[in-house]
Amino acid sequence: MKGKLVYKTKNGKAYCADSIELLKTIKSNSVNLVLTSPPFALRRKKSYGNVSADEYYQWFLPFAKEIRRILKPSGSFVLDIGGSWNEGIPTRSLYHFELLLRLCVEDNLFNLAQEFYWYNPAKMPAPAQWVTIERIRVKDAVNTIWWLSKSENPKADNRRVLQPYKKSMQILLRKGYNQGLRPSGHLVSSKWSKDQGGSIPSNIIIAANTKSTDDYIKACREFGLAVHPARFVDKIPEFFIKFLTKPNELVLDPFAGSNVVGSIAEKLKRNWISVEIIEEYVIGSAFRFNGKGKLVYNKYLGNS
Ligand SMILES: C[S@@+](CC[C@H](N)C(=O)[O-])C[C@H]1O[C@@H](n2cnc3c(N)ncnc32)[C@H](O)[C@@H]1O
Repeated sequence: MKGKLVYKTKNGKAYCADSIELLKTIKSNSVNLVLTSPPFALRRKKSYGNVSADEYYQWFLPFAKEIRRILKPSGSFVLDIGGSWNEGIPTRSLYHFELLLRLCVEDNLFNLAQEFYWYNPAKMPAPAQWVTIERIRVKDAVNTIWWLSKSENPKADNRRVLQPYKKSMQILLRKGYNQGLRPSGHLVSSKWSKDQGGSIPSNIIIAANTKSTDDYIKACREFGLAVHPARFVDKIPEFFIKFLTKPNELVLDPFAGSNVVGSIAEKLKRNWISVEIIEEYVIGSAFRFNGKGKLVYNKYLGNS
């Protein structure tokens, strides 16, 4: 494979590479889930660089074609893609909607299996000019997550992501529903009173990154490595990996950053491949895996 294999674990491999090169070396129809958060078209650039909204689709298309090729017919491509503001005016860019339409309609590479919204209550009130100074916009606290698929019927099972019943539901299950037709037109039958082991989640995922420190951050600080500035909250990859794959299936993140996806896949006993172009982030990510971090750090940076 092109690119450098920086470390391996029981279930996965972390590469430092440009993923457009590395993806080309992966077998067609071999991956169950591509789960990723690429650089967004942000006005305020992150340290790893961002593509502008105007060029976004042209930049993304070659990656999308490779992702489609390597996915199994029953596989899924989950794309976390945050919105952005237009330069200097209080209006929103449409780049992430354009991306969706072009991927699914114009280039017909994927189906939209379902759209998800990641609500992060801890998001900062930005851009300051519109939100905190002029007070003419509110906090943007939602990322869209496009669940795309190669076929119309990607493998999925919501029974793997059931949520605990709320108190009110537990009472209903005990006492039973009033059966019959609701004003909405829904017919409530006796089946509604059956305990299914939990409630079916919705397509809004609430997950806040409120941790100011964890083992990964502590280790990066101790070894003088940059902490990745746009990490996933564990709950996001955990939800999609459980929902869309089974143990031993293969999950790939082509824009892996600090490799939250790989670490959750490892925990859930899925095989994984991660690809990140900045070596320092790949080395830092090794600290997510027990005992790996120091070895990887010493191998690549120990004597420098
Ligand atoms: C939004 S961050 C991903 C963060 C990641 N989800 C995490 O939890 O840490 C996007 C990452 O894509 C990386 N990247 C950008 N272009 C790339 C490319 N062509 N190949 C591989 N990685 C790339 C950037 O360096 C950045 O770390």
